[in-house]
Amino acid sequence: MKNLHDKMQHCFSESTMMLLKKVGDISKRMDYKAYLIGGTVRDLFLCKENLDIDIVIEGDAIHFGEKLAHDIHGIIISHKRFGTCTVTTPEYIKIDFATARRETYAKPAALPTVEFSSFRDDLARRDFTVNAMAISLNDGDFGHLIDFFDVVGDIERKQIKALHNKSFVDDPTRILRGIRLEKRLGFTIEPHTASLMRKSIEKERYKRVEEPRLRDEIMLILKEKEPFHIIERMDEFRALKIIHPYLKLHKGLNETFTAIDEACGWYNENSPRKRSIEKWLIYLMALFEDVSHDGMLYFANKFEFKRGERLRMLSYKKQGRKVLKTLNAKRKILPSKIYHLLEPLSHEVTLLLMAVSRSDIGKGRIMEFFHKYNGMRTSARGEDIKALGVKAGPHFAKIMEKMLHKKLDGILITKEAEIEYAKKLAKRRL
Ligand code: CTP
Repeated sequence: MKNLHDKMQHCFSESTMMLLKKVGDISKRMDYKAYLIGGTVRDLFLCKENLDIDIVIEGDAIHFGEKLAHDIHGIIISHKRFGTCTVTTPEYIKIDFATARRETYAKPAALPTVEFSSFRDDLARRDFTVNAMAISLNDGDFGHLIDFFDVVGDIERKQIKALHNKSFVDDPTRILRGIRLEKRLGFTIEPHTASLMRKSIEKERYKRVEEPRLRDEIMLILKEKEPFHIIERMDEFRALKIIHPYLKLHKGLNETFTAIDEACGWYNENSPRKRSIEKWLIYLMALFEDVSHDGMLYFANKFEFKRGERLRMLSYKKQGRKVLKTLNAKRKILPSKIYHLLEPLSHEVTLLLMAVSRSDIGKGRIMEFFHKYNGMRTSARGEDIKALGVKAGPHFAKIMEKMLHKKLDGILITKEAEIEYAKKLAKRRL
């Protein structure tokens, strides 16, 4: 069998290599066997380092993880129910340890029941051949490739192939994984696998999957580099209905996704108050452009998105188009009005508005918002207003707001001018 030691040396960082050798040492001491498996081995063939490392242990994985974490001063999180654990190294490399096992599904699409068994069986139960190679980390044959299913052949043929005929019955989320992997690697799903996927979709087996598992797959798709091509391929498989029954690949989605990339790129380069943007959520809102508010609400609840994510999706549905119409208008709009429209919205919603706006005027106003108005505060602080004798409450808030609007519109320039203006408002009960 092929030895990949040199390839590993070439493609993995020094710290990953040292870590894998350490795993080999510990397994020797414990009289266990350790194998690198899954995405890490697949990505090694493409010479891409994958910092999420999967290792299978012939022995007690949790016991093994504890030993490793102790030796390298790492952190361990154990999942006793599944006999698995995750060790994070001080360099933030994450290693998942599992015991070589056979998973039997109590009923299709349910969580697997774990039963200890051989290593080959473990690989055979996985999703696709590309994920079913292993590399020995053991003393004496470190770096040896273990390929029971001619995976090297599939990689040469650039094909995604299911390991067994019941793969998409056991776990329909693999339909989404397969399409994602196909587009990510630039491979093709081989015909028999494609027909198994189509059958599973036709029979609507995905309806028996716990929604959060499907949600996680949807999010992973939208976090890929080129999510549009995955969505397009899902449409070919009639798999968009897994996400929502009324979801269609609408015309112009490709352009919208490109415009989202541009808007986020602009934001990352130019916005003075950068914060990290959840780009996947922007793509998701764009994908749902033609679905109604209630359809979006149904989706957000059914798939148990977090509260903040749900609120952003729904605020786009409720206010997005209305706000955009005002921003795109040719007539003059004061900065305070732009601020009033955009400040309550999330950056994700605002960036989507920037991407879908067909007007340079509208785009320009959104850019101006990010550049100048977002997060702007008056020079006078709350204490200055309190010192005028105004008590906390709606009147107080109104004064602060009006003061800020005048500052945004360039009418109040100095702190003194702001306080003078606040004095007038304080006397005048609003
Ligand atoms: N797996 C599976 N069926 C699933 C999910 C995962 O068989 N529904 C297997 C695959 O063989 C996969 C391994 O479990 O390689 C680990 O899963 P995960 O970490 O999600 O996959 P990676 O291949 O590492 O994918 P990615 O590079 O996208 O993280």
